[in-house]
Amino acid sequence: MQLPNGPQTPRVLQMLQWIASPLSYMEACYKRYGDIFTLRIDKTRRVFVSNPNALQQILTSDTKEFEAPGELNQLFAGLLGKRSVITTTSRSEHQRQRQLLMPPFHGDRMRSYGQVINNVTEEIISQWECGKTFCVRSATQAITMRVIMQAVFGLYESPRAQKIEQLLREVLEESSTPLSVAFLYLPFLQKDFGPSSPWGKRMRRQQRVDQLIYEEIRERREQLDASRTDILSLLMEARDEAGQPMTDEELHDELMTLLVAGHETTATALAWALYWIHKLPSVREKLLQEIHSLGDNLDSSSIFKLPYLNAVYCETLRIYPVGMLTFSRKVKTPLSLMGYQLEPGTEVIGSIYLTHQREDLYPEPKKFKPERFLERQFSPYEYLPFGGGARRCIGMAFAQFEMKVALVKILSQCELALVDNNADVKPKRRGLVTGQDRPIEMLVKNLRPIKSRQLDIVNT
Ligand code: HEM
Repeated sequence: MQLPNGPQTPRVLQMLQWIASPLSYMEACYKRYGDIFTLRIDKTRRVFVSNPNALQQILTSDTKEFEAPGELNQLFAGLLGKRSVITTTSRSEHQRQRQLLMPPFHGDRMRSYGQVINNVTEEIISQWECGKTFCVRSATQAITMRVIMQAVFGLYESPRAQKIEQLLREVLEESSTPLSVAFLYLPFLQKDFGPSSPWGKRMRRQQRVDQLIYEEIRERREQLDASRTDILSLLMEARDEAGQPMTDEELHDELMTLLVAGHETTATALAWALYWIHKLPSVREKLLQEIHSLGDNLDSSSIFKLPYLNAVYCETLRIYPVGMLTFSRKVKTPLSLMGYQLEPGTEVIGSIYLTHQREDLYPEPKKFKPERFLERQFSPYEYLPFGGGARRCIGMAFAQFEMKVALVKILSQCELALVDNNADVKPKRRGLVTGQDRPIEMLVKNLRPIKSRQLDIVNT
């Protein structure tokens, strides 16, 4: 089998480059090798693809030609557990987990989260003061963390929920540095030398979160309440095709998955959206005009239909996609891809970042231009911030809803400005996804009186 070309540098160098600057490394490989190339970032050789036709082939034959996740997903196992929809190694188990997880994320349920998003955003805005500055990421992270905590557990103000929130924030902050990523890729570094060693500290925090989640599950099982509509309650009632409920371990792993996947990604995306809207005055003006055209009584279905808001949302996730890659897919039966014969066991990854940077699809790809999404439609293999096929992001509708409602709420209530409008913020690895390379600070110039800034989220 001849794999697509790729750098011939030693594996350890490839890994270091991959850990330190994955986006520029992928761009350099794209320039040299084109739409398909092979990297050796650990023991496995992985084929990176950014050609829409090849992506279509991979994502539409996901269940037939590919096994459950590739080895790379095991990097998440320490944090999420081995029974999570992201880490399970069995194809049938993955399908079962998805079936159990999907109902709380269907469109109808989604709208019931509108009020939560509205209230939480309002709460964060109420902490801002005219003439003062705030850190955008801290604000968006507080919004998305509280929203997901409420959606998952119902109440986030209980002492246990607050403790989970705080510990989780610490665990994730710690996992975001390149050094922590090196720990994941190099399992021999994962040694617990006591509570003050890096890995030991991390393990103890993680154990504390696990323990609190198991306590919550136990308590809920003891006090079943059929009127609750939070995700944990729905998952406890869910049954698979064989009529079996989820075990405590499965519940724990899925809750961790939703808490982690559901807030970090959306917090970064929301921070990017606020950055671009305030970096480019024309974007902000158009958006404000559109929002004002709705009048005072905004409801979630009108927000969802705003074309320019949708274009800004799409362009935010195009230019610097938070998930730079799809999960890797492991070839099950011999596969012909772009003229290469791939043997079973080969891992194939869709490069979302490179696909979104293609000049042929997105002229001047480094420029933020929401208009592209008004001028043409892109196929799910040309624009794929949430991946696709059998593993497409479960939280796609949730994230979209949350971002749009929070943005409208913030823009209609607050006049903000970037503290440093000249600084160009760039994307950078943040754990296993991407984030901003520097903190974005904003100045609160004006806050509109509460009456005229009331946002009425009608659950239609
Ligand atoms: C802007 C926000 C988000 C982005 C950019 C994002 C992106 C992604 C991507 C690229 C994948 C991999 C898909 C593939 O390999 O085909 C994924 C999977 C996943 N996402 Fe998201 N996501 C976001 C928000 C969320 C939210 C809010 C939740 C849950 C509340 C969530 C839960 C998941 C889960 C459970 C999976 C695994 C699906 C599977 O393996 O079958 N994500 N996401």
